[in-house]
Amino acid sequence: MSKPLTRAVIFCIWLAFNGVDAASNQPYRTGFHFQPPKNWMNDPNGPMYYKGVYHLFYQYNPYSAIWGNITWAHSISYDLVDWIHLEHAISPTEPYEANGCWSGSATVLVDGKPSILYTGANSKNQQFQNLAVPKNPSDPLLKEWIKSPHNPLISPVDDIDPLNFRDPTTAWLGPDRLWRIIVGGEIGGQGVAILYRSEDFVNWTRGKTPLHTSNKTGMWECPDFYPVSINGSNGLDTSVLAGLIKHVLKASFNNNDHYVLGRYTPEMDTFSVETNFLSNGSDMRYDYGKFYASKSFYDSDKKRRILWGWILESDSEADDISKGWSGLQSIPRSILLDESGKQLLLWPIKEIEKLRTKQVSFDDMDLKSGSVFEVPGIMAAQADIEVSFRLSGLKEAEEMNTSWVDPELLCKEKKASMNGTIGPFGLLVLASKDLEEQTAVYFRVFRKQYEKYVVLMCSDQSRSSLKEGLEKTTYGAFVDIDPVHETISLRSLIDHSIVESFGGNGKACITARVYPKLAINQDAHLYAFNNGTMDVRISKLSGWSMKRAQIVPIQKRRKPSIT
Ligand SMILES: *[C@@H]1O[C@H](CO)[C@@H](O)[C@H](O)[C@H]1NC(C)=O
Ligand SMILES: *[C@@H]1O[C@H](CO)[C@@H](O)[C@H](O)[C@H]1NC(C)=O
Ligand SMILES: *[C@@H]1O[C@H](CO)[C@@H](O)[C@H](O)[C@H]1NC(C)=O
Ligand SMILES: *[C@@H]1O[C@H](CO)[C@@H](O)[C@H](O)[C@H]1NC(C)=O
Ligand SMILES: *[C@@H]1O[C@H](CO)[C@@H](O)[C@H](O)[C@H]1NC(C)=O
Ligand SMILES: *[C@@H]1O[C@H](CO)[C@@H](O)[C@H](O)[C@H]1NC(C)=O
Ligand SMILES: *[C@@H]1O[C@H](CO)[C@@H](O)[C@H](O)[C@H]1NC(C)=O
Ligand SMILES: *[C@@H]1O[C@H](CO)[C@@H](O)[C@H](O)[C@H]1NC(C)=O
Repeated sequence: MSKPLTRAVIFCIWLAFNGVDAASNQPYRTGFHFQPPKNWMNDPNGPMYYKGVYHLFYQYNPYSAIWGNITWAHSISYDLVDWIHLEHAISPTEPYEANGCWSGSATVLVDGKPSILYTGANSKNQQFQNLAVPKNPSDPLLKEWIKSPHNPLISPVDDIDPLNFRDPTTAWLGPDRLWRIIVGGEIGGQGVAILYRSEDFVNWTRGKTPLHTSNKTGMWECPDFYPVSINGSNGLDTSVLAGLIKHVLKASFNNNDHYVLGRYTPEMDTFSVETNFLSNGSDMRYDYGKFYASKSFYDSDKKRRILWGWILESDSEADDISKGWSGLQSIPRSILLDESGKQLLLWPIKEIEKLRTKQVSFDDMDLKSGSVFEVPGIMAAQADIEVSFRLSGLKEAEEMNTSWVDPELLCKEKKASMNGTIGPFGLLVLASKDLEEQTAVYFRVFRKQYEKYVVLMCSDQSRSSLKEGLEKTTYGAFVDIDPVHETISLRSLIDHSIVESFGGNGKACITARVYPKLAINQDAHLYAFNNGTMDVRISKLSGWSMKRAQIVPIQKRRKPSIT
């Protein structure tokens, strides 16, 4: 381990680098997550890589910290870490969008020029799909956008519920050279991905059948549809239709982003799924915590698919108004298909590691039954932690009950404070010195028949803050790993009021929002704990303080100006 600095010294160094915002009256403002300077933000929109620049648009209220007056705000980056806010890209000006310019996606067309499809809501909240194109496509910053004179391009006719018809996807090109998109909807009480085709991106014709539908869910918001490579290490462009691939269909409903895998046949536009939404034992989600309305894009520079997701607040609207802001974006995550082919792996993009500073590291350390161990020497309120646990005595694990099909329910029943055999063990993040406040991110292992084991990952917010009136749900996910042959890994990105946790190298993700009263800034601590009766071994633990990302309006940028 490196020589520990005292917490106060670290904090002073950190302040010098990071300014005073986070330390003053804004303890929940984050250091390295994307956010506008103030006000309301929700869904990420139209992310793309264009002429060397990453673009992120997002649903934004220019006037207040609550939802309303929804506009497409626009920020750009060269590395997905530091961001520059530009002028708004699309604002409500037309009757078909009187109640806001809602979510949508970007597509780079065959001529290399980008286009945006977005939803407009009129004064009755009826929803229409619209087109916007850049005024000057040779400008890599794509500062100005022009709405198509043909808008609205797609209206809610026939059986489509006009109040539930939104969020067009990035388009993909079929073998017949027609573009395809899906739009989220609800028809006859069922969630549906309505398919449209177009030759010219302006005149769209509805497919006879939807791409997919489910009678187990209502409205599908923010659908996403894209290929993933089988056993490949690169992401794929949205129009890749052949080769060793599967397709992912994601839909947002019930406060989570759910996905299914399947085979897409472009000639027929059929999608044959391997599992279905909300089926027991295979209910796959990008994230089992606070993460919604996500959208992916293909980064042609680094040949990867990247996911953005909206991280909501879990404090009250009054708190948001007094903070002056609401909503953050997740750290961008790369998406790959796991080698089993049965699920996705999500992992924070490599670039975020450039913010890592001051490291602590331990190898091969016992975490005895009943122990709590403070991880010293880093700024625990703004950190990146990776830890892996090796287990023994697995035969002693408690027996799995076949009625335990819902991991969140199981985590609620078996909170961190409840003793077990193998687990609970894990991290206590954003914890106060006396542990009065703590957010436990932990595992438990259960035994099934034939020496098979079930690994449960939980994030327990019930003791995260002494403050009342917060949502403190406990989240849970099963992690498909074999603890006999593999270590159980956990990475947590801790950023003042966000804890983004990745179990099993990205097989299960849980994002939590917490608002501690005591465990803020230099008073936040980080611990590893084990309250199972069996000892656990930490095979490796590495932790880093994180520097602040530079996320500023273009006028305030410290680096040399850009054109
Ligand atoms: C929307 O903007 C109008 C005009 O600026 C303002 O009066 C109204 O309060 C805003 N609504 C919200 C919810 O921000
Ligand atoms: C739109 O496309 C459809 C199907 O290709 C075609 O029948 C129709 O004539 C087109 N409409 C216009 C206005 O171009
Ligand atoms: C729901 O859809 C499935 C196919 O996806 C079908 O087998 C089942 O019968 C449907 N259930 C109802 C109640 O319509
Ligand atoms: C999942 O399992 C539970 C408990 O066995 C059952 O009540 C529920 O109906 C099942 N849900 C689905 C979607 O099959
Ligand atoms: C990926 O490769 C591994 C190792 O060769 C193999 O076991 C696995 O079945 C492959 N996955 C798929 C989905 O084909
Ligand atoms: C829980 O387990 C820990 C560690 O084994 C032990 O110290 C503690 O007394 C137990 N608490 C209860 C309530 O059983
Ligand atoms: C499994 O859980 C159910 C419901 O809580 C309970 O009735 C049953 O006894 C449990 N089975 C075993 C083997 O523990
Ligand atoms: C571990 O067990 C001890 C003793 O029962 C308890 O005080 C502590 O809160 C437990 N840890 C967690 C994270 O619940």
